[in-house]
Amino acid sequence: MNPLKWIKRREEYLRERKLWMDELMSAGRAEEGRRKFMKMAAQALGVAAAGKIVPHAFQPVEVVQASKTQASMIEPFTFAYISDSHLYEKTLNERFVRQLERAVADVNALDPQPDFVLYGGDLAQLGQPGELRLGHQILKELKAPVRMMVGEHDWFLDMGDLWKELFGPPNYSFDHKGMHFITLMSVNEKDFWTDKGLTPMQRMQIVAGLDDGRQSRFEVGDEGREWLKRDLARVPRTTPVVVFSHSPLYKYYRDWNFWTEDAEQVQALLGDHESVTVIHGHTHQVLTHRVGKIHFHGMLSTAWPWPYAPEGLPRLTVQMNRPDPFNQTDGLGDGTLRVKKTGRVDKHYNLWNRNPMIVSERYLTSNGAEDVPAKITLPSY
Ligand SMILES: [Fe+2]
Ligand SMILES: [Fe+2]
Repeated sequence: MNPLKWIKRREEYLRERKLWMDELMSAGRAEEGRRKFMKMAAQALGVAAAGKIVPHAFQPVEVVQASKTQASMIEPFTFAYISDSHLYEKTLNERFVRQLERAVADVNALDPQPDFVLYGGDLAQLGQPGELRLGHQILKELKAPVRMMVGEHDWFLDMGDLWKELFGPPNYSFDHKGMHFITLMSVNEKDFWTDKGLTPMQRMQIVAGLDDGRQSRFEVGDEGREWLKRDLARVPRTTPVVVFSHSPLYKYYRDWNFWTEDAEQVQALLGDHESVTVIHGHTHQVLTHRVGKIHFHGMLSTAWPWPYAPEGLPRLTVQMNRPDPFNQTDGLGDGTLRVKKTGRVDKHYNLWNRNPMIVSERYLTSNGAEDVPAKITLPSY
């Protein structure tokens, strides 16, 4: 490139960067502003449990009885989420550890505290004991109870043995304030390793490379769908259901495994219920979708943001900007979900370094006609 052109482009970049830094600083110091937002958002949501600190517990599986609750009996509340931390051992990568700690501090600063915190999977990078135990230790610092979900990076080294020892079974459900919650293991794969004689680490690394053609696609699988069917059979159709899954329970982009192979079958099982909302990890980006009555929300990662898939996005997704490659925590974050009286949710994305974004229940129920989320106003790089 012509050096003059390069200089000009660099000046433009610095000017833009200064502009948005000034905007950020004008509301107070950036960090203060971020914390203020988290606090104000929680207050504005009017969470009932006033500042009560709940002792930490990784929740054991609860076998729930059918709830008789109707949507009109929902007691609004908030839960928080943290997802996709991809921890290496501290000696290899301290940054991802610090970023998970930052999310834990964000959630612990919420006042009042959320009813619980969903951890969205991919706690570890390669499922190694040092990674999973480190994550377990950091998540213990959360004041609110934690509901764990498993990701493929946690699973494929030992096929979930240590994860289950630390956190319990990957499929479980519970009732909370009139809602039915289901945590569904959605990252099973067909056996591609036995015939090839692969080692556990080779299997793990293949799965971790999302576009590695040797692995199979994620699926809930026959056993998981049977479990889901049995669980849903106990829940009245009028009780709002929220499902936590790691992969999106729809087909977004096959080559990166942003995908669940048996998504249609899972959606058919869920579709009998009047209100179903799916909260998923894995895609590391702002992502919104709707299939029939089912609403889908993606979670942010604390480790890195994935780019949007090249073959198009779900129509209702209002894109986040391309993160600044010079800022290691840009495009990352955590967030909260406000459960409304209807049993649907308003999704709050707490994007670090950028303005927060709310994807409301109304935006989804109106199929994108009303309450369109405000775009991220900071420029892309
Ligand atoms: Fe991930
Ligand atoms: Fe993942």
